[in-house]
Amino acid sequence: MNLLNEYKDKSILITGGLGLIGSTIANKLVKLGSKVYILDAKIPIYGANFFNINDVKDNIEVEIGDIRDRDRINQIVQGKDIIFNLAGQVDYTYSLDEPHYDLDINCRGHLNILEACRRYNKDATVLFSGSRMQYGKVEYNPVDEKHPTNPLSIYGVHKLTGEKYHLAYNNHYGLKTIMFRIANPYGPRSQMKHYKYSIINWFIRLAMENKKITVYGDGSQMRDYIYIDDVADAFIQSAINKNAFGEVFNLGSGIGTRFIDMVNTIVDTVGKGEIVNVPWPKEWKNVETGDYISDISKIKNAIDWEPKILLKDGINKTYDYYKSNKSFYW
Ligand SMILES: NC(=O)c1ccc[n+]([C@@H]2O[C@H](COP(=O)([O-])OP(=O)(O)OC[C@H]3O[C@@H](n4cnc5c(N)ncnc54)[C@H](O)[C@@H]3O)[C@@H](O)[C@H]2O)c1
Repeated sequence: MNLLNEYKDKSILITGGLGLIGSTIANKLVKLGSKVYILDAKIPIYGANFFNINDVKDNIEVEIGDIRDRDRINQIVQGKDIIFNLAGQVDYTYSLDEPHYDLDINCRGHLNILEACRRYNKDATVLFSGSRMQYGKVEYNPVDEKHPTNPLSIYGVHKLTGEKYHLAYNNHYGLKTIMFRIANPYGPRSQMKHYKYSIINWFIRLAMENKKITVYGDGSQMRDYIYIDDVADAFIQSAINKNAFGEVFNLGSGIGTRFIDMVNTIVDTVGKGEIVNVPWPKEWKNVETGDYISDISKIKNAIDWEPKILLKDGINKTYDYYKSNKSFYW
């Protein structure tokens, strides 16, 4: 499939488009000739950052707005060919403290997008960014899409609900929705302000500042880390592939890495940072899923995509990015 032909002059809406995943997609789509419109609430604790779109800012329209604002959403979806629906409350521990807030953004907000499409733009393609947290305690690895879904956090419950909404609008109304369960994304353009999500990015910051990097337990838990360009490419390729419509896909690297090995790779790459092992805090233990590795065979078969960037190279690229652009993220 020729991406340039498919995306040239397409009208694209990216909700949450100033954040990690949305802005990476935006950068790529501008280069493919699309007309990109970003709607982002710029809520301070999340990853919104104007510098994320600095290279393409003259070719993007940005509106500070909220997916919870139903009237605005009803207008903004109109005339858009593809909607990358990435706005989200991203912090899963926060979802336990503020479940109604999580509900409002991660469920009600997404329902607003879908209802707006049903009423005013039923030909749109809508992509939803769910999470591996939807699975809960892992029963087997690698985890395929048929694995039971028993989320441990409110975030996971609401992400699962968001996915079901998108699926229902495909089933009932034929809306072209595509749903992802993303593993652990990392890379350039992520927030570097706190440890609540994008842990690789946070640890790169700690290493760059030669600080202590805290590892819970022995760090032997397995995780699936996926570089941001691989995530963005999967979204971009699936949005124009009818094999993907109405489907739920795992989106990960398909490779399990022990947490402690990830940390060691960061310390080796940056050449600084001190690893300290501490016991698991109770609130984290309650939401710990156990080892997680995505089975990505479904998406690989459906859209002819596969991850390209190995963890070591991804960490290197991420470190390089923040070395050059530190002042925009610290
Ligand atoms: N980063 C992860 O670990 C991860 C993993 C799986 C899924 N996801 C999902 O992917 C999506 C994008 O996350 P990201 O990694 O780019 O995080 P991010 O924090 O970099 O981006 C999220 C963006 O959404 C915006 N936003 C939040 N609430 C909004 C609202 N009500 N209306 C409009 N904009 C709003 C924020 O301002 C931010 O720019 C989220 O839905 C997230 O839940 C993220």
